[in-house]
Amino acid sequence: MSHFKKFEKPIKEIIESRVSCRTYQDQWLKEHDKIRLLAFCDSIQEGFKGKKISFRLVEFDKETLKGMKLTYYGLFKNALSFIIGIIAQSDSAYVSFGYAFEHVVLKATELGLGTCWFGDFNPYLVEDIAVTEDQMIPALCVVGYPAERSTIKERIARFAIRASKRKEWRNLFFHENFAEHLTKDSAGKYTVPLEYLRMAPSSRNTQPWRIVKQANPTRFHFFKQTIKAYCEKKRMHEIDLGIAMCHFELGCAEKNINGIWKAYTHNLDDVPAKTTYIMSWEETK
Ligand SMILES: Cc1cc2nc3c(=O)[nH]c(=O)nc-3n(C[C@H](O)[C@H](O)[C@H](O)COP(=O)(O)O)c2cc1C
Repeated sequence: MSHFKKFEKPIKEIIESRVSCRTYQDQWLKEHDKIRLLAFCDSIQEGFKGKKISFRLVEFDKETLKGMKLTYYGLFKNALSFIIGIIAQSDSAYVSFGYAFEHVVLKATELGLGTCWFGDFNPYLVEDIAVTEDQMIPALCVVGYPAERSTIKERIARFAIRASKRKEWRNLFFHENFAEHLTKDSAGKYTVPLEYLRMAPSSRNTQPWRIVKQANPTRFHFFKQTIKAYCEKKRMHEIDLGIAMCHFELGCAEKNINGIWKAYTHNLDDVPAKTTYIMSWEETK
């Protein structure tokens, strides 16, 4: 079920204003923001296709995290509050996790909070979180009030990974098969959902999403292309795919396009190397 109606601001505004924030004000979340964010988290009990998910908020003193490397890359200032997602283990759990958690990220954005996904995080951050044997914490997000000005270090880091840049449509979206590119004309009413997908965050900004649109019935086949071995190994590319599905689905809901997610045995015979089928969107009446 789409979570579209749980957002109060237009999805366009939320998606366009989201950006990974690495420099925060030196304060914890205010009570009213915490309550609204946690209420939203509570409303998302399932990831994709019924996978059980839950969220916790953990907060640290500045002194406790001083000098600690919090994540594999990115330089953070005043990262004190973290949303932790816990999901039942299964093969599709990473995609499901990205899909569910990105809704929380967008809600935080709507509330005026800054966020940044942490793919590979310091285990210290989740030390006090109870996780059973059949559960896992694939990633987490830092959350807080963005500082007025980002640090020079952050700006250099963003430049290094070309964080504001996205691949062109021709690299991401295809028509009928991988040989033909999908133009905005042939995407029609799906242009906006695909643009929202393109604006999604992804690990190291790798944008591993490859989408093929087919007609009669209208279907979008979502594939994952391995861009960085490291992101693949840590299964972050799967999280990236789930995030992209969240953005696409919210874009469809905004445009009143109905559809369902389904797994198919697709009929494409020109799937590029290192490219794996994940899931399809099929338009419904
Ligand atoms: C699954 C995932 C893991 C990420 N891990 C990190 C991380 O460990 N450190 C970091 O600084 N940014 C991390 N990011 C943020 C990306 O670098 C960022 O989304 C990308 O560069 C695009 O920039 P934007 O979010 O500002 O649009 C991660 C993003 C995703 C989706």
